[in-house]
This record gives sequence, structure tokens and C-alpha cells, in this order.
Amino acid sequence: MTIHRISIEGNTCEFQQEDQDTVLRAALRAGVGFPYECNSGGCGSCKFDLIEGAIENLWPEAPGLTERDRRKNYLLACQCRATSDLHIKMRPAQEYVPPITPQRRKATFIGAVDLTHDIREFRFGTEGEADFLPGQYATLTIPGIASPRAYSMSNLANVQGEWHFQIRRVPSGKATERLFHKLAMGDEVEIDGPYGLAWLREDNPRDIACVAGGSGLAPMISIARGASAAGLLKTRNLHFFYGA
Ligand code: FES
Repeated sequence: MTIHRISIEGNTCEFQQEDQDTVLRAALRAGVGFPYECNSGGCGSCKFDLIEGAIENLWPEAPGLTERDRRKNYLLACQCRATSDLHIKMRPAQEYVPPITPQRRKATFIGAVDLTHDIREFRFGTEGEADFLPGQYATLTIPGIASPRAYSMSNLANVQGEWHFQIRRVPSGKATERLFHKLAMGDEVEIDGPYGLAWLREDNPRDIACVAGGSGLAPMISIARGASAAGLLKTRNLHFFYGA
């Protein structure tokens, strides 16, 4: 395993990246508040400037960068892997420090339930507890699929180590075709997480509004379950808005 050191311009903090990680995941695992949202190249929140060092760009055409960003040589931390020690420019912020440190875990497929004609809940088991906040997501590395896919958990954290994902079948989607048609009981995947900032804030006294669209319902279901389990719905309303 190769390890590269990543230092930040104007900041004393430094972190290490193992070869299979991205710059973003390495930062979050080290407790560095690297701005991000999607972890998959779409949002552009994880832009950084490379001052020194070499990287492998996993998805140079990622839509998270505009043409202007590319002219300025910005890169996406979620799509870059250090191939040498790096010195980078970005601004860490406390709000992005993960409340639970993301980890890679081997997971076993333990069951599935059809919820609608095209949504199935897939259940995986890991050794040790499933530790995440309602509304967070994890990435799944599925055998035979080149890049990990991000899916939100629909259940709540639990000591049994169960991770439930409600996944909609995407017509001609390679990952969902594999999950829906090839995955057999006992098959192994890798779960990396938890990630995501849209988690339930139990200490906020206001009503809760869950707005879901392309992300699907899973994170909102987890938030609703979390709010109910914490007794928050005795004093607050929960509003659900869902657009296909
Ligand atoms: S976190 Fe969204 S593009 Fe990197």
C-alpha cells in the first residue's frame, strides 16, 4: 500500500491518502472539514487547487466542474487520487468535519424486499455496528462495476451491523442491473461511509421538512424514522414533499 501526504496551503493540518482513496475521502477520514456534498463528481463543492504534486484524475469530464473551473485548473477532490505527496489550496470548514468517521467495510448481501415495481430494498450485514446518522449515505463497490455508487441508508444505526438501501432500478443502468439481477445471498460488496451533510439535527427545535426528488425516498425515510425514534414528533411536525 502506498501512502501520500497532503498538506494545505496556509494551514498547519496535513493528512495522508492511501492508494485506493480519493483526496476527499482521505481528508474526511482524517477529520479534515473538506467541503463536499455528493462525493461523486456532480456538485462541484470539493473543488481545489493543486499547487504541487501529481494526481490521477478519475473522471476528467465530471460535471461538477464548469468550463471556467477547468480553465483555472481546478480539480475535484472526490475524483482525484494523489500519486505523489501533494500541496493543495482549499478552505477547510468545521461544518464539513464528519460527525462519524467514514470507514471501508466488507459487507454481505443478506436479503432484499421489493417495495414497488422498480424499487427494491437491499440489505447488507457488516461485522460490528452500522454507525451513521439518519439521512446519510454510503458508497457501494459492487463486483464487476468499475466505480462505487452512492446510496442513502433507509434504516437507522444499529448494533447488528445492518445497512438497508432502497434502490430504484435504472433502465440499462449497469450497477442496478447487477444488483437486481446478479446479486446472490452471501455475495460481498464494500460499503464506505457514512457520508453526507443532510442528517437529522435532533437539537433543532423547529418542524422538519423533508424534500426529496432525484435522491429517492431513502434518506427521508431514515430521517422520519430517526425523528420518531428520538421522540421528536411529539413536539414537532414532519412535512414530506416528494417530486418524481
Ligand atoms: S463532492 Fe460533489 S463533486 Fe465532489
